[in-house]
Amino acid sequence: MKKFARIIGTGSYLPSKVVTNADLEKTLDTSDEWITARTGIKERRIVTNESTCDLALEASKKALEMSEISPSEIDLIILATTTPDKIFPATATMLQDRLGATCPAFDLQAVCAGFVFALTTAQQYIENGTAKNILVVGSEIMSKIVDWNDRSTAIIFGDGAGAVVVCSDNTTGIKHSKLYSDGSYMSSLHVNNNRINELGTIEMAGNEVYKIAVKRLSDLAEETLNDCNMTSDDLTWMVPHQANIRIISAVAKRINLPMSKVILTLDKHGNTSAASIPLALDVAVRDGRIKKGDSLLFEGIGGGFSWGSVLVEY
Ligand code: UT7
Repeated sequence: MKKFARIIGTGSYLPSKVVTNADLEKTLDTSDEWITARTGIKERRIVTNESTCDLALEASKKALEMSEISPSEIDLIILATTTPDKIFPATATMLQDRLGATCPAFDLQAVCAGFVFALTTAQQYIENGTAKNILVVGSEIMSKIVDWNDRSTAIIFGDGAGAVVVCSDNTTGIKHSKLYSDGSYMSSLHVNNNRINELGTIEMAGNEVYKIAVKRLSDLAEETLNDCNMTSDDLTWMVPHQANIRIISAVAKRINLPMSKVILTLDKHGNTSAASIPLALDVAVRDGRIKKGDSLLFEGIGGGFSWGSVLVEY
């Protein structure tokens, strides 16, 4: 019998410190008007002294609680992050220890596409029968790698974590997933360190990334619906990576999806990289918009470039 990877619980966590566009106006040559019009972002959360593992732990506890799964029942932990606490060990193993779990745990790095890459990886373990319950987390402290003097990147990013518990189900769950990478775009969006133990900062050719993101994500959304013999009418919600409202709107327009069917959190969270999709998902599950049986489209793109989509019956 075919097994499906079904999301049975969600959780998220945001650090308490809010940095508004007005706060950024004090240190950068920018304005709330520019940031709002060009990105849709109004504020973001920034850590004071928490680690990537701290954020992941809080989000994971909530997802486990909703799932009614105990740490001892988790078969695998996959933590998507671009901002691990250490070069090694994997932040996922620190999370495993702090949760009191005993399963294998590894980090996965696909920047802003990290969550769709991690969820697709979890799907493989479940569909081939290797695991029954998997904790998939996206946790990021992007503020660690932002150049706070660069107005073109400092305004975008935020910190946070989101988590889901995925379990093996005989009837429904992930219906489709598709991943892509094109490493030839490395210089368009990268961290400018030369050595692995040097702390660099994000460099982004914003407008180039913007155009490529619109093209790749629109093509992918269309491809995903075609592969599933669906139209946007069959989607209950799109839960996109929260990078830029203009990118999200362009993708929705291409597949004829009204913006009323898109979950948006970027005004409050900014771009939290691998955490943005599970954060948005958790917000909409907990406020009652997303319900059991809904068809959800997740999609995101980030440095690499790497991009991907996951279509889920929730
Ligand atoms: O999450 C993973 C992938 N990342 C993304 O998806 C981000 C994709 N890119 C974007 O979201 C947009 O390109 C940005 C929001 C980064 C920039 O918006 P844009 O409409 O592409 O602006 P631009 O880079 O073409 O810059 C337009 C103007 C420039 O000034 P001039 O040359 O026209 O005089 C910039 O210097 O806006 C200026 N600018 C700013 N002005 C005020 C750039 N950043 C700012 C700022 N405040 N923060």
